[in-house]
Amino acid sequence: MKNLARKFYYAMPPAWRFATRRLYYLPLDTWEAVTGQRDGLTPPRGLIYTGSGDFRRSGQQTVDNFKELCGLQPHHHVLDIGSGIGRIALPLAQYLDKTGRYEGFDVVKKGVDWCQQQITARHPNFRFQYISLENDLYRSDGGSASSFRFPYPDASFDFAVANSVFTHMLPPEVDNYLDELYRVLRPGGVAYLTFFVFDEKTAFPSGFEFPYDYGHYRLMDDVVKSANVAFEEQYLFEMAKRNGLAVRALHKGFWRGLPKTECPDFQDIVVVER
Ligand SMILES: C[S@@+](CC[C@H](N)C(=O)[O-])C[C@H]1O[C@@H](n2cnc3c(N)ncnc32)[C@H](O)[C@@H]1O
Repeated sequence: MKNLARKFYYAMPPAWRFATRRLYYLPLDTWEAVTGQRDGLTPPRGLIYTGSGDFRRSGQQTVDNFKELCGLQPHHHVLDIGSGIGRIALPLAQYLDKTGRYEGFDVVKKGVDWCQQQITARHPNFRFQYISLENDLYRSDGGSASSFRFPYPDASFDFAVANSVFTHMLPPEVDNYLDELYRVLRPGGVAYLTFFVFDEKTAFPSGFEFPYDYGHYRLMDDVVKSANVAFEEQYLFEMAKRNGLAVRALHKGFWRGLPKTECPDFQDIVVVER
């Protein structure tokens, strides 16, 4: 049933998926706006295109993971690859101090616009950029992520995150992003990257299979290729290494059926260091 609903959802063009979500939540969003139940810093449900769950709580949990697993500090300069609609930026704005800095970029303009209006307006050291790149889950046009150069100088960040982004990108794109990550991280800089990682022992759980097998990577859907992508562990670690990044840790996520209490998140977290 889950798989069927997913197939149906993916069969729609990206713009329809956004519109469907907006319409589905319109009554609740209107009610919450009228009764003042939603604080100004939480986007309406119909605009949260970046995943399910409690938006504010999951953002806070992710930032807690940055501190615990990567040693994030309040003065750090942070890059958020695929900044979405501010799930990570919002709790970070409470954590980074005035000497800290945040840069985020994303390929979905609605999310970037919302972040600029709601977050940059209150926190000028938080900046967001819209970049026009193709991704068949989120949009139908744009340039190629496999040759995109991040719009930042070399060695300009202490910490970077790609949370639930490389799970929606294909190997040549991730390869380029790791190369760019190496360029923009300072020596000793750390990145928190989430993936679905598999090896020969991985048993894909029912309802969350990756049936399209391309050897070193697997897809959940072969029409919408970026819907969900899983990477073979050795292949991924070698790609990181080839791009100058040392893999410091792999924290397995509960997507693979492990008990939630044993995992810091749903997706697997790969911590790399330049
Ligand atoms: C599941 S959402 C996660 C958003 C955000 N990182 C979070 O945790 O809330 C995936 C995000 O990746 C963005 N994305 C997809 N392809 C991208 C690319 N090539 N470069 C940057 N962002 C991309 C999407 O627009 C979307 O905002």
